[in-house]
Amino acid sequence: MNVPFLNPGAQFPPLRAEILAATEAVLARAHYILGPNVAAFEEEAARYCGAGFGVGVNSGSDALTLALRAFDIGPGDEVITTPFTYIAPAESIHQVGAKIVFADIHPRRFTLDPEDVARRITPRTRAIIPVHLFGQAAAMGPLAALGLPLVEDCAQAIGATVDGRPVGSLGVLGCLSFYPTKNLGACGDGGMVLCSNPDTVTRLRMLRVHGIQRRYFHDLHGYNSRLDELQAAILRVKLPHLDRWNARRAEIAARYDVGLSGLPLLLPETAPGNRHVFHVYAILSDQRDALHAHLAANGVPTIIYYPQPMHLQQCYADQGWKTGDYPVAESVSKRILPLPMYPELSDAEVDHVIQAIRGFFNGIAS
Ligand SMILES: Cc1ncc(COP(=O)(O)O)c(C=O)c1O
Repeated sequence: MNVPFLNPGAQFPPLRAEILAATEAVLARAHYILGPNVAAFEEEAARYCGAGFGVGVNSGSDALTLALRAFDIGPGDEVITTPFTYIAPAESIHQVGAKIVFADIHPRRFTLDPEDVARRITPRTRAIIPVHLFGQAAAMGPLAALGLPLVEDCAQAIGATVDGRPVGSLGVLGCLSFYPTKNLGACGDGGMVLCSNPDTVTRLRMLRVHGIQRRYFHDLHGYNSRLDELQAAILRVKLPHLDRWNARRAEIAARYDVGLSGLPLLLPETAPGNRHVFHVYAILSDQRDALHAHLAANGVPTIIYYPQPMHLQQCYADQGWKTGDYPVAESVSKRILPLPMYPELSDAEVDHVIQAIRGFFNGIAS
């Protein structure tokens, strides 16, 4: 049996009629930019996330950049984030001209360690970007207690909650990505900034259209970063299915938990009060590279994220960070192994992955 690592196309056949009808309506109406589907989806997604407003943008990466610009963060400012994630949060800080400050992570939950964040705050710190990594919220209570604006990176965690409150509504702004493999994925790029302050929303709406409120009058230095009308129409079809898909992800995670128990590896840890939406189910193993190869040889090709923490990326070589600066992130990068995780995985496929992993450890033992 072969188990694909990701399968974003699997959502299309069961929703085919609805998606085709929604896209055909967009094509027929020909209101392609910031049309009625973007406006409706902004409302629906904001409501789903418990936020006052949503501003649809071109990608999750742009959502982060526009969020920082909404607070006028730029040169001379510092923003703290995690080195163990996708590059987008660090990139957004760099894009606006501020200084990236990394803090280390929790060794089992992989999200920002609030105590290390506290140590890195200076008078120039303007915001913190906690990443709700792999589908689980960062330690929002202790981070909020630090008294700085929190710009939530919810790209991997739409639907996750903390004590019943949805991510995206916990900080001053929340950033979503609709990249096709995300828990709510478009058929192309897409993102959104969630916000409850009407003045900030006005600024975000200006930033995404070249800084204008009135056509050809540019009050701010802006961007061309709009959520596409076709993508919004597709996302509106998909959003009502998100809770069911997230529930299936949790079921698969529970099946992995049981099937992999007792093996010499560490399973994902969920913090008390958190609802984890398992964008990624990742195990930790000291034999990660051998296990990765063994799985590939047994029909389970996997992709390792993240193999290199952000402070050691070539593009930041001029920043002076070095190996040893963020020991937990570095150690996790060497041991992390994500397993296949998407709602369309069958129990038989999950069991195949479990058997392949058990086979690896049995082979070592024999
Ligand atoms: C944690 C995180 N933040 C931000 C992004 C950026 O989103 P996008 O790909 O939509 O730009 C991603 C992934 O793609 C991500 O995983």
